[in-house]
Amino acid sequence: MMIVCANSKGGVGKSTLATHLAVWLHDRGFQVALLDTDKQRSSSVWIEQAEPKIEVRVADTPENCLSAARDLIAAHDFVVGDAPGGLEDLSRTLLILADLAIFPISPSILDVRSVVGATAVLRYAQGINGGRPEGRLVLNKMKTRDTISQEVRDGAPELGLQVARHVIRDLQAYRDVAQQGTVVSRFGRKGLSAAADMEALFMELLGEVVNRKTKEGRQKVANGRAKIDR
Ligand SMILES: Nc1ncnc2c1ncn2[C@@H]1O[C@H](COP(=O)(O)OP(=O)(O)O)[C@@H](O)[C@H]1O
Ligand SMILES: [Mg+2]
Repeated sequence: MMIVCANSKGGVGKSTLATHLAVWLHDRGFQVALLDTDKQRSSSVWIEQAEPKIEVRVADTPENCLSAARDLIAAHDFVVGDAPGGLEDLSRTLLILADLAIFPISPSILDVRSVVGATAVLRYAQGINGGRPEGRLVLNKMKTRDTISQEVRDGAPELGLQVARHVIRDLQAYRDVAQQGTVVSRFGRKGLSAAADMEALFMELLGEVVNRKTKEGRQKVANGRAKIDR
């Protein structure tokens, strides 16, 4: 399964979400790869520090992106794609390959406007790819007492993309872990609130798939054992 974090804007949390999602899936026992298509290489450098067992590939052309994604999908349970800030060729290629597209936005009017473009590109990918990927808007850097946060949350359902019920709060832990090359779930007490947000969001987006794949994996092991016993 391929999951892509994309948006027309930079600084909205694509790499933060991609990195945390890759480690979250790895920690559930899956074979995970990260495909970084952003020139800044934020998530690939971050993952190499945070969890070297996750395979990392970078791609800077649509052609490289396509062949890297095909290789990785064949060899892993999950491939997480991190898109550049923009909805040009590389992002479009990733979205056409994806099963699930996550579009983070932060509470700013510019981010809200960016959703119109994201929705159009999502429809384009779905038109080419028989209805895939599913798209979800994720509200990131939310502040409880911020009026724009509240407006974005209230207005989000009208933006034309399904909105994840769970939001990610604006928390210092995300900035600290990026600097220290780790993730909030491995950051002790300082990461607890942030880790709870990520867990709730990822379970909402992928809980069903993760539980099904875990069951299938156990079944395979049991079948293998039964064969050896016979
Ligand atoms: N929920 C959050 N709370 C606080 N800071 C965040 C949060 N999400 C992201 N950030 C910070 O915002 C900046 C941009 O995030 P990043 O994931 O690199 O965005 P993108 O990949 O979309 O450009 C980084 O400094 C990151 O640490
Ligand atoms: Mg990034």
